[in-house]
Amino acid sequence: MLKIKGYGDNLTVNGVRIGDLSPSEHEKIEREKGGKNYKPLEDVVVSHVRDSSTLICRKPSTNDVTPYVEEELIDGLCCYSAVNQGQLNKTIVEAVVKHLEEEKLPTVPRSIRHKYMGAFLLAATEITQMDRVVPKVAGVEAPELMFKLSRLWGYQTKGIPENEAIVVVANGNFHGRTVTAISMSDDSDSRDNFGPFVPGIERVPFNNIEALSSLFKEKGEKIASYLAEPIQGEAGVIIPDEEYWFKVRSLCNEHNILLAMDEVQTGFGRTGANFAHQLYNIKPDLMGCGKAAGGGILPVSFVAGKDEVIGLLTPGSEGSTFGGYPLASVVGIYAIKVLVEEKLAENAKIRGAQLMGHFENMKNEFPDKIKEIRGKGLLTAFEMHDSSKLDGHKISIELLKKGVYAKETHKSTVRIAPALTIEAFQIDNIADAIFNVIKEI
Ligand SMILES: Cc1ncc(COP(=O)(O)O)c(C=O)c1O
Repeated sequence: MLKIKGYGDNLTVNGVRIGDLSPSEHEKIEREKGGKNYKPLEDVVVSHVRDSSTLICRKPSTNDVTPYVEEELIDGLCCYSAVNQGQLNKTIVEAVVKHLEEEKLPTVPRSIRHKYMGAFLLAATEITQMDRVVPKVAGVEAPELMFKLSRLWGYQTKGIPENEAIVVVANGNFHGRTVTAISMSDDSDSRDNFGPFVPGIERVPFNNIEALSSLFKEKGEKIASYLAEPIQGEAGVIIPDEEYWFKVRSLCNEHNILLAMDEVQTGFGRTGANFAHQLYNIKPDLMGCGKAAGGGILPVSFVAGKDEVIGLLTPGSEGSTFGGYPLASVVGIYAIKVLVEEKLAENAKIRGAQLMGHFENMKNEFPDKIKEIRGKGLLTAFEMHDSSKLDGHKISIELLKKGVYAKETHKSTVRIAPALTIEAFQIDNIADAIFNVIKEI
């Protein structure tokens, strides 16, 4: 019979105690029992966190007595921007513990009202400055729902003939891994062997207003929305021209096309504003959030938007068992409270400028190695020249040796996006490690 006992390192499943496993034994179990859909950094296993930006990890043992040694790692990625509030943010953790131990209301479905939904909707509509919010769970569900809402509005309000609605997306996008999301993608690793894809999608080059304008002119009557990330994160932190989004907004208005922005990665203070579209002084009709919407504690996502669009939903047309369930609502509310009260966007701006200053020095020092540096707030990346020596994965492994966790996005680009609670000395430490790795390769 399956036997599970103990907590922490004493957690033992069928006689296997996790505190006894070496990094290679962890890897072996994952290889044999898991899907082979990830390639995590080699020879390192996170054990726990020490503070908001420090992970304690296990590396291969240097002796014959213990299966591993433990070391500190500065977290330069914070779970792909899911932990903007910092690991184990005190306000959010206290709210969760209180909620479970005192309030005692973890889970009820949407078919019966619970008292935290109203509070979540009040907080989420206020922070997003939108009319309505629909809670979901995973990040990918936000662009998925924006896609559905675009079609719904396209048929019911714009009058697009049945089954002919088009959603326009950008080359190089990343909206997640469902069939709709990969139908929008142009990345062959995500798409190959998963067709047929969702129809009614047109792709344009990102940050190319002429291409968007001519597509709108050609097919505008059937286009429901332009769905895009304000800054492309997974593509390697691709920042559009300052005027791009203003021009896109005007074009969308002119052609009666919705602007739907995927802020799953750029939202919640990451880029130096609460939401990245605010950097460009525009407002989308729909906005999808995820990741840090759950404060690094639970998966929480949502779509916020205008009444004219979200107001079209009817019972049965959309739903989610865990979308906005009581515990998620509490986490969502306190994730917003921390965003506001801990001034995360402001800190992202200040610490981001500090990091970009370091990158600037690095680029000046090693112009033959660093091709470009990019960043808004604490969503930053450096791209190296194309050469086998300047490989992003190798850089990540070398950084690990110097106590920094970061990961390449594409072959030659490394993204640095730490928690927005990060302190000045930690930014300096990350930058020193990068500087030394680049110097040595
Ligand atoms: C812009 C964007 N949208 C959607 C997603 C998907 O989120 P999740 O992996 O939580 O489904 C991501 C994840 O990286 C993202 O960056």
